[in-house]
Amino acid sequence: MSVLLVVGSGFAMMPEAEIERRVQDLVGQMTLQEKVGQLNLVGCSVIGAFDLDRKALDRMFAEKKITKREYEHLISGKSLLREEPAIAAGNAGAVATRRWEHFNAAQKVAVEKSRLHIPLLSGTDVIHGWDTTFPTTFAESCAWDEDLWRRTAEISALEARYEGCNWTYAPMIDLARDARWGRIAEGGGQDPYLLSLLAAARVRGFQGEDMSDGRHVAACMKHFVAYGACEGGRDYNLVEMSEGTLRDFYLPPFAAAVKAGCQSVMPAFHSINGTPCSHSKWLLTDVLQGELGFRGFLVSDCQAIVQCTEEMHGTCHDKVDAAEKCFNAGIDMDMASGAFGPNLANLVKAGKISMARLDDAVSKLLRIKFRLGLFENPYVDREGLRKQIDYRRHGAVARESAQRSIVLLKNDGVLPLDGKKKIVLVGHVCADAADMRGAWACGWQPHLFKGILNTCLRDALKARGADFVFTDAYDMEGRLDAEALKKAVAAADVVVAGFGEHSGQSGEAQSFAKLELRGRQLEAAEIIAASGKPFVAVLFNGRPIPVPELKAKANALVEGWHLGMAAGDALADVLFGDVNPSGRLTCDIPNASGECPRYYNRPNTGRPAAGSPWTSKYRDLPIVSLYPFGYGLTYTKFAYSNEKAEVRGGDVVLTCEVKNIGAREGREVVQGYVHDVLARVSRPRRELKGFAAVVLKPGEAREVEIRIPLKSLGYHVGSEFVLEPGRYFAWVAPDSDSGKRLEFTVDAVVGEKSGMR
Ligand code: BGC
Repeated sequence: MSVLLVVGSGFAMMPEAEIERRVQDLVGQMTLQEKVGQLNLVGCSVIGAFDLDRKALDRMFAEKKITKREYEHLISGKSLLREEPAIAAGNAGAVATRRWEHFNAAQKVAVEKSRLHIPLLSGTDVIHGWDTTFPTTFAESCAWDEDLWRRTAEISALEARYEGCNWTYAPMIDLARDARWGRIAEGGGQDPYLLSLLAAARVRGFQGEDMSDGRHVAACMKHFVAYGACEGGRDYNLVEMSEGTLRDFYLPPFAAAVKAGCQSVMPAFHSINGTPCSHSKWLLTDVLQGELGFRGFLVSDCQAIVQCTEEMHGTCHDKVDAAEKCFNAGIDMDMASGAFGPNLANLVKAGKISMARLDDAVSKLLRIKFRLGLFENPYVDREGLRKQIDYRRHGAVARESAQRSIVLLKNDGVLPLDGKKKIVLVGHVCADAADMRGAWACGWQPHLFKGILNTCLRDALKARGADFVFTDAYDMEGRLDAEALKKAVAAADVVVAGFGEHSGQSGEAQSFAKLELRGRQLEAAEIIAASGKPFVAVLFNGRPIPVPELKAKANALVEGWHLGMAAGDALADVLFGDVNPSGRLTCDIPNASGECPRYYNRPNTGRPAAGSPWTSKYRDLPIVSLYPFGYGLTYTKFAYSNEKAEVRGGDVVLTCEVKNIGAREGREVVQGYVHDVLARVSRPRRELKGFAAVVLKPGEAREVEIRIPLKSLGYHVGSEFVLEPGRYFAWVAPDSDSGKRLEFTVDAVVGEKSGMR
């Protein structure tokens, strides 16, 4: 349980009726241009939608990613201050910055110099932590723990607020089935049920009970919608999708975030069935606001509005046309396209945009500013917030989160490590703290955690006084000193070896067609295996990567993802058995890149069974995943018995007895899956409908019950929600591929009109 100390808080939530009165009052006083001005997000750098720090700018200039002119402009530190006249004239509603000094200065101009003194929002990406970098969201999803997801978001919010951010472009809740898509690392996996829990938990963590308390931020769920389904796993690529699939898989996490009170949303870059999300009125107005009941405001993705014009999506003639279409479709704020500011007023005057729609957009934004308490407390309260930030406590949560994200994939008994044995640690990545960062480590401040956390595995082993030597005999690029590696492992009782991909190789625009281990990592694995020494392979990766060779050759395989600031300590805790691993995969791990997308909740086909050549599989790959969704081992064993499925009191109730038959305490994630046997359209072979996590002592047994509301058995055919009586199969199991098949029948269902809310 987290306890946050509120020091001298002078904040109080304003009642909604009062907020509404003040919003209407303000809108009534605003000129047309002031209204339009509120819908601009300013201060975006030429490279992204935020101020960059000096080092990043130097690097970009050296790599020729920005011109000399752009560089000089940006290092003058004035990317926000150059906006001063615009802010003073009321032509900005939000700023993009990661620096509190820049924010306070801009806010002062807004509050003191603009006619109506309307404070600014300040947005940036706080995806998996700020100063404290937590594991990537994808890694943390493997904890299957809503409370943890909420707590890490809450800490991120506090630290972000300290740096001047009051609005985060998170949670990223794009369901993703395709490991080739680099942004899979930013989200929470491939299951709509689990991702919906994560979405709601993150929103609650970011926003708290009361956003005006000065410690929380407004959340922005993204990217609406189905961004993760980009064709071929190629970032930004088009999506072709049936409406049923969209509704059953991709919309539910957004519906859950709306229900949790998410204040804003970011439509995605791509097009669905030909229409860019940015101007799909059907998606942004009818579905999101009409059906899902979203009442917050919509901000475009970075330059997404201008990307609808002729040379890009090609669905809008020019910026003016794009502004009209996107605004009328529902986007309220323009991030970095410069399309709304110069054009909306003219479009209103020309009758192409109604004043009612403009008032609606402005009101949505103002409401959030009131809810954040910005009119009363516009500035960053550095001193007050500093007292609440306890890096020791935050570091402890980062370590807990990293421990809980680790997934033990294979163990023939070599783990936990015997502290008396001589360990040889190999692989450059084991000594590279920067590679633990993860896709969105924007605030990465390792110096704050000196003496508190060890980020790379080598430092963590050193800190705990382990008997080990480290040999940097290969890296992930192609360097391999085979002789040095052979020599090092010859002296070992046990070898711990790191493999994977760089932190920067997952995330935005990091799609890869080949996910197999790069460079000469497999050769290194071969050398270690050939030595005959016990071999523990640790993986560092943002996305699931196919590692059949490691599965075959290593004695233990540990999925260490990109675990952030506490990666080294958490991995050492698990390797030495101080912590019993309990993470479970939230995506299938493919056997090879060529079988992506690989996901457990796919429908059966006409030829589903194995054992015949005429079946739906690749001839050169196994029919099952390398590791399935839900899978993960612990240092103990659990036995399932007495599994039952029945319909009781309007719910499907799955029960079983789980017993810890191993030698140490452990956490088991008992998973409830369902399959609709006969339906109007093919249904997934299994769908997760609930889970229960139990911590059991050795020898302890527990009755576990998973209740599934009947409504969640429904599905969509087009826009129609179908919930029919009939036969279902069910499993209460430790993963999506195992367990005893049960059966239940639903006799009658009370009419449900919609599956979306
Ligand atoms: C990304 C968003 C992000 C935005 C602002 C875009 O390129 O798609 O996820 O929030 O930049 O940084």
